[in-house]
Amino acid sequence: MKTADATAGLSGQTIVDLTKKHTLYEWSAQSTVDPIPVAGAKGCWFWTPEGKRYLDFNSQLMCVNAGHGDERIIRAIAQQLETLAYANPFMATEPRARLGRKLAEITPGDIDTFFFTNGGAEANENAVKLARQYTGRHKILSFYRSYHGATAGAMMLTGDPRRWAAEPGMPGVVHVLNPYHGIQRGWDTAKDALAMLEETIQLEGAQTIAGFILEPVTGTNGVLIPPDGYLQGVRDVCSRYGILMIVDEVMSGFGRTGEWFAVDHWRVVPDLMTMAKGLTSAYVPLGAVGMRRHIAEHFRDKVFYGGLTYNSHPLACAAALATLQVYEDDRLLENARRMGTLMTTLMSTLREKHEMVGATRNIGLFGLVELVKDRKSMEPLAPFNGTSEPMKALAKFFRDEGLYTFIRWNTFFANPPLSITEEELRHAFEIIDRGLAAIKQ
Ligand SMILES: Cc1ncc(COP(=O)(O)O)c(C=O)c1O
Repeated sequence: MKTADATAGLSGQTIVDLTKKHTLYEWSAQSTVDPIPVAGAKGCWFWTPEGKRYLDFNSQLMCVNAGHGDERIIRAIAQQLETLAYANPFMATEPRARLGRKLAEITPGDIDTFFFTNGGAEANENAVKLARQYTGRHKILSFYRSYHGATAGAMMLTGDPRRWAAEPGMPGVVHVLNPYHGIQRGWDTAKDALAMLEETIQLEGAQTIAGFILEPVTGTNGVLIPPDGYLQGVRDVCSRYGILMIVDEVMSGFGRTGEWFAVDHWRVVPDLMTMAKGLTSAYVPLGAVGMRRHIAEHFRDKVFYGGLTYNSHPLACAAALATLQVYEDDRLLENARRMGTLMTTLMSTLREKHEMVGATRNIGLFGLVELVKDRKSMEPLAPFNGTSEPMKALAKFFRDEGLYTFIRWNTFFANPPLSITEEELRHAFEIIDRGLAAIKQ
């Protein structure tokens, strides 16, 4: 039976079995994956076909910022689908027109022109193209502790171990050390980190470097909030050497940190800004790269060599417009700030209570806990790029208790939808508290 409803009414186990048999799960040896079957979702919660409910403490993949099942976004997509499902990228459509104008309003400084893609990796690929075509230089600097996507070029920009299997790849990417060196070595000052960046630029030859791409608050590599002055310093160094500052706001954008974009906390205007995830809250895939006026001007009489069949897809543009409206109507940035303050308090209680909490960080609702064996050695509870029995036990505890979050190495994340309530946030931390007590060695 090959009909659209061939999967209707399947049990959770059958869904898991079929997806494992006929589809490939990402970043995994297939025999080790153990997916949660998801049948539906609303607000901060999702559930299995059998009705087991989970608090979505990671907004799925740090992307459903507006929360699940929002009728306003659903209606906007449905309406656009009925009006015009698709027009090719050489056409001009109303949702594309409106979205460009809206993004120009909320992005910093004179960023006012956008190239739309299908997601974050493609946004970064096109940022590299723009930077190379604009500057005539070819090298791109990027952090080691970073993730920029899984397409060929974005994979090379990525500094973390997900890059290794794809090497050798696009030439010209130079990785630089972040201001953070892991829980045992800690943080550089902004001044030292900037000196290291500048030294790298001198050693590489500034005239060969098109851009420096960085997550302003690093995401999966540890919710790394840079020391004050660092981003302003990067802006200054880039300007002095004619290097484009490219910020990857794919995860940190759209209210996650309590501002529209993470760079807004430090009032920095990058030359290029990439985005995805929260742009549509993942209701429909969409990414974008935004550029400042002087870069857009460059392409007035020079060809931009880049394109995608689904560039400026009307459904995705309509979804983004509706999502941005929800952020505004429901004051979700304000809620992210308020709940973020509460998260900071709840995290400090965790630190006081549990010796194995080595560090906690959050900015708005972008949060992470780093676990250690003990505070004296500060040895991570799982090694770099690895796992451990206690981390696996914690993951199992959270799952059994109906708390979904992202667990990586010795860390776990706290990235709920921006609509989370105080009660839901306290509920999550109550499970975390019990989980940490349960795995105490
Ligand atoms: C900072 C950052 N950049 C880029 C990407 C890639 O985005 P996508 O998976 O939509 O290609 C991600 C995805 O997690 C990300 O976190």
